[in-house]
Amino acid sequence: MGDVHFSRGRARRGVVLVVFWILGLISLSCAARLSVEKQKLQVQKHLNRLNKPAVKTIESPDGDIIDCVHISHQPAFDHPYLKDHKIQMRPNYHPEGLFDENKVSDEKPPIKQPKEHSAPIKQLWHMNGKCPEGTIPIRRTKEEDVLRASSVKRYGRKKHRAIPKPRSADPDLVNESGHQHAIAYVEGDKYYGAKATINVWEPRIQQPNEFSLSQLWILGGSFGEDLNSIEAGWQVSPDLYGDNNTRLFTYWTSDAYQATGCYNLLCSGFIQINSEIAMGASISPVSAYRNSQYDISILVWKDPKEGHWWMQFGNDYVLGYWPSFLFSYLADSASMIEWGGEVVNSEPDGHHTSTQMGSGHFPEEGFGKSSYFRNIQVVDESNNLKAPKGLGTFTEQSNCYDVQTGSNGDWGHYFYYGGPGKNPNCP
Ligand SMILES: *[C@@H]1O[C@H](CO)[C@@H](O)[C@H](O)[C@H]1NC(C)=O
Ligand SMILES: *[C@@H]1O[C@H](CO)[C@@H](O)[C@H](O)[C@H]1NC(C)=O
Repeated sequence: MGDVHFSRGRARRGVVLVVFWILGLISLSCAARLSVEKQKLQVQKHLNRLNKPAVKTIESPDGDIIDCVHISHQPAFDHPYLKDHKIQMRPNYHPEGLFDENKVSDEKPPIKQPKEHSAPIKQLWHMNGKCPEGTIPIRRTKEEDVLRASSVKRYGRKKHRAIPKPRSADPDLVNESGHQHAIAYVEGDKYYGAKATINVWEPRIQQPNEFSLSQLWILGGSFGEDLNSIEAGWQVSPDLYGDNNTRLFTYWTSDAYQATGCYNLLCSGFIQINSEIAMGASISPVSAYRNSQYDISILVWKDPKEGHWWMQFGNDYVLGYWPSFLFSYLADSASMIEWGGEVVNSEPDGHHTSTQMGSGHFPEEGFGKSSYFRNIQVVDESNNLKAPKGLGTFTEQSNCYDVQTGSNGDWGHYFYYGGPGKNPNCP
């Protein structure tokens, strides 16, 4: 009897436990559903902040949506400091120098180049339309773009601080977070801008969380917590864009990638004035091995009058500017300029990644095979484009990615850079 009683009590307790267990499951799934709802709401709010009402919408062949947004409705004007900002529609000064393409028309590479070279580099979305005057083209951020980021807050920002720090004595520091570089650089002076013509390729990316880019860096301050950086070039980043296309990009930060700054127009900062070029849009065409070569020119310089940092793409497109107040050190001048490539090596399966830098071929191979930067120049305090003095080079593992500089009459200072990543000498 006692036994029966006992087991009945146990059975009752069992029922109670099951009921609690079910209630627990229900509340857990409610909490999960609530947090999913909350995340959805957060993503939607962020998308509403980023994607401004469009005057016209253009669908690009690569799946991008380009919104033509009225120039005064762009993300920059969400910034409290820019509420009453009067947009500058042109820079007060434009740097001039030896390789100013507007002056020199017969620029040639050291070897005969294919005819296509002179074809204007365009953005893919141009095939399907133009933005009206008074608007700027903005690549629309989709829900899946934000969901690929580790959090809504991190979307459009860099994951790690990883500025190539050429003279670093500490290999662990250089290798931190797996970023690898092959760059040329100058330092030790005051710089007011930089220019380069960059060969455009579509490097293969092994892992979706890796990227490969080719860019210039305008750096101010120390490599500490308050580093200022303005960056522009091309990149392939499946994480940021959801595909393997080569895209024009910019980046800025005034605190070493911590709280300020972002890619393209993904936060308020850069003020765009150009209606033809979209930040983050695909560049087309790209170069092919032993075949047609394409390059883009990028110039970033500080307007001596207002102090803003302007950016020009190619010969004809003044894209806009970063207002001086965004920065501390760069509000005065830059202390270092870097040009070159960067990849992330996430070391899948313990081996070096086979993500390519540049064309994926080493500098030794030369024109048409290895990727180049040509006519690299700096802007001096008199707003003149000058050859870089005391050009240094840096790479963490030259067996994986390398860099080789040179100079001649047509290309001025140039270098070949890049490599395949994983290979017998870089296991
Ligand atoms: C980075 O790490 C690799 C392998 O872990 C090593 O061979 C290389 O020397 C390191 N780079 C530097 C600059 O120390
Ligand atoms: C990007 O390229 C990698 C390999 O190079 C491939 O596995 C992946 O499917 C590609 N991603 C897209 C979105 O095309």
